[in-house]
Amino acid sequence: MKILITAGPTREPLDPVRFISNRSTGKMGFALASAALAAGHEVTLIAGPVTLPTPEGARRVDVVTALEMLEAVRRELPACDVYISCAAVADWRPETCSPEKLKKARMTGVLRLVPNPDILRTVLPLKGDRLFVGFAAETGEPTAEAQRKMRDKGLDMIVANDVTQPGAGFATETNRVTLLFPDGTRRDLPLMPKREVGTAVIEAVGRLRRP
Ligand code: PMT
Repeated sequence: MKILITAGPTREPLDPVRFISNRSTGKMGFALASAALAAGHEVTLIAGPVTLPTPEGARRVDVVTALEMLEAVRRELPACDVYISCAAVADWRPETCSPEKLKKARMTGVLRLVPNPDILRTVLPLKGDRLFVGFAAETGEPTAEAQRKMRDKGLDMIVANDVTQPGAGFATETNRVTLLFPDGTRRDLPLMPKREVGTAVIEAVGRLRRP
């Protein structure tokens, strides 16, 4: 399969030195890429600002903002069979980005934000017979909210993780996830290295493609 994976955070600048972002390190998305490559698939990895080395054999496209990530996904998706959206895309961006560093004395304490597009939903018209897989980072029991996101975003599978669990979620070497499918079936995976989570996700994608 030709697999498109997004990984890491996006960074939404306020001025040349400040930005809004989140705690994603890209480890989960890069682990997925390594697992897919090890299984013999072709991988295009769209990465937000992270400090990880490129998995050998992956074609890497670096982006910074959510709008850049959207454009990269639009460009790369037509050549792919599967899109796995593991990136933690910032839901909001500052309404304006100052070309110069904002002066502290001139700041009002109010930051005006505008919503970023939802990348998965925006590219849904391009889906065709491609598989779309999302991740859901939740604080607390993730199932209900992940199922809602899976329906809302037209996904074939969603990987739900409660990011408050020890060893799971952002910036950890391990993760504990549940694979959820539109027919209501689920697979609870134990706490394990992100690379093994990646292997389980890629195997599940393979079964969806060729049942
Ligand atoms: O990078 P690590 O430090 O290893 O951390 C891994 C992780 C916690 C980031 C990862 O396991 C994870 O859960 N990624 C998804 C995080 C997230 O943004 O979830 P969400 O519930 O906000 O979004 C749901 C889905 O919609 C995701 O597939 C997301 O990529 C996608 N999305 C979200 C917002 C947006 N504007 N566009 C999107 O496409």
